Amino acid sequence: MMKNYLITFTLLFCLIAVQSTAQINPYKYHSQKKITVTKGAVVSAHPLASQVGLQILKAGGNAVDAAIATQLALAVVYPGAGNIGGGGFLLGHLSNGKNIAIDYREMAPAKASRDMYLDSAGNPQMNLSQDGHLASGVPGTIAGLFASLKYGKLPFKKLIQPAIELAEKGFTLSDAQVADFNESAKEFLQLNASPVAFVKNGGFKKGDILIQTELANTLKRIRDLGAKGFYEGETARLIVAEMQKGNGIITLDDLKYYVVKERTATRFGYHGYEIVSMPLPSSGGILLQQMLGMIADKNIAAMKFQTSASVQLMTEVERRGYADRAAFLGDADFVKVPVKTLVSAAYLKQRMADYDATKAGNSKATAAGNITESEETTHLSVIDAAGNAVSVTTTLNGHFGSRTVVSGAGFILNNEMDDFSVKPGVPNMYGAVGNEKNAIAPGKRMLSSMTPTIVLKNNKPYLVVGTPGGTTIPTSVFQSIVNVIDFGMSAEDAVNKPKFHHQWLPDLIFIEKDFDAATITALEAMGYRISKRGNIGRTEMIQVKNGKIIAVGDKRGDDAAEGY
Ligand code: GLY
Repeated sequence: MMKNYLITFTLLFCLIAVQSTAQINPYKYHSQKKITVTKGAVVSAHPLASQVGLQILKAGGNAVDAAIATQLALAVVYPGAGNIGGGGFLLGHLSNGKNIAIDYREMAPAKASRDMYLDSAGNPQMNLSQDGHLASGVPGTIAGLFASLKYGKLPFKKLIQPAIELAEKGFTLSDAQVADFNESAKEFLQLNASPVAFVKNGGFKKGDILIQTELANTLKRIRDLGAKGFYEGETARLIVAEMQKGNGIITLDDLKYYVVKERTATRFGYHGYEIVSMPLPSSGGILLQQMLGMIADKNIAAMKFQTSASVQLMTEVERRGYADRAAFLGDADFVKVPVKTLVSAAYLKQRMADYDATKAGNSKATAAGNITESEETTHLSVIDAAGNAVSVTTTLNGHFGSRTVVSGAGFILNNEMDDFSVKPGVPNMYGAVGNEKNAIAPGKRMLSSMTPTIVLKNNKPYLVVGTPGGTTIPTSVFQSIVNVIDFGMSAEDAVNKPKFHHQWLPDLIFIEKDFDAATITALEAMGYRISKRGNIGRTEMIQVKNGKIIAVGDKRGDDAAEGY
């Protein structure tokens, strides 16, 4: 009798263990943009990754488990930004009231140095910080997932299995991905000596299936050996061999000594809500606190959504926040950052002392750069039935990162070194400038804009929000929060309505193409210079309202919401 129970139990266990993607059809899927549910939800940049997260929730995992599995799935089905060769931040509010902020940002390799991207005349060579082997920081993602695991409930093997299957058996590329891979083919060919899975002879076609055998094998090493399956042994050897092909500097020791840091989450009040966000080395939490702090006493609700009055006010606080970012922010483990002052009420009041609601401010711009329009980073938001909320933003930096694929291991390396200030005052790929605070040093983390955020109401999750978009991330999160809290918008509108962005330099308001024409005219009359650009961000939001969970994936991409 006992023996029968044991056999049944073992069979059941095996079934659960291999169940993995059983309920997911990787060859036929669509992007569900909005769902209203009661138990749990996952929103991410790809429908299959959201489905993986949902499956983990249904299998008894909590929001942290689902976030880990969704990130791993994104590394397979969304290689433009999902990754194991990059880094990120996981922010959580657990049902016991604890906030967690896990920093798995990339680190500069030991051989990195302040002027490594300058030529002998001191001129920046931005191609080196953006393209190919030398552009990569030491990846943090896998270490971050293992550090997150202690807040989850399920074994890692179960969380990684869906990603392994998606890599091994393949999945149908979305139409957007087909175009995306084909557009990037030339760069992949230029930056890789060996064939890569993301380039197909004659180009990918609608309905093509992407199989990533080398990536599946790397994921299996991680499943079987833990973080050592990435940072030591075969995978580490392959990374270092890849480095040697293209003047890269990441060594076996850099990989072995990568460290995750658990930080204290940034917390502050705004109009009766508590905002929880990411501290340094992200600039996101500080910028959010500054920007919301500078509008807090201005009755922005009365100004209404995207009128010239509200856009002007938000632009002026964005300008001031980003000027501070350039001057003061960097990795606080390496440089002194006056965080307390920067977010204090007295300082923010003083910052707004010269604010004039009738005319444009001035950034004393010396050079106007351009903001690129890639999707780069990626965000996912998760909530579970127990009320645990997790907000994760993770990145390769530029679109497909350095476009260097680790030969034999099948994953793309980041080009995060460009988030350092290559030379004081020289704009990076997002047009952002910095100074010595964000200068390159061995082991230092480059300043980030990633802003995974959770808004609490009565100590319970009310919004779980974040987005990709480089330096536009903090302004998009800022605007999404104001849209809901002050303008009373639905989550769907807060995510999908047009966004705008000002980052001090260049002294321009960047707007999305469907931005209100009358507001543009009024802003120009005040002296603002406006620049139309492509999409700003891909915001993933979960709202908990009247006992219901409303999950929204941004209309700007393949983003999808799943829940139950
Ligand atoms: N690589 C984008 C960011 O961290 O801000």
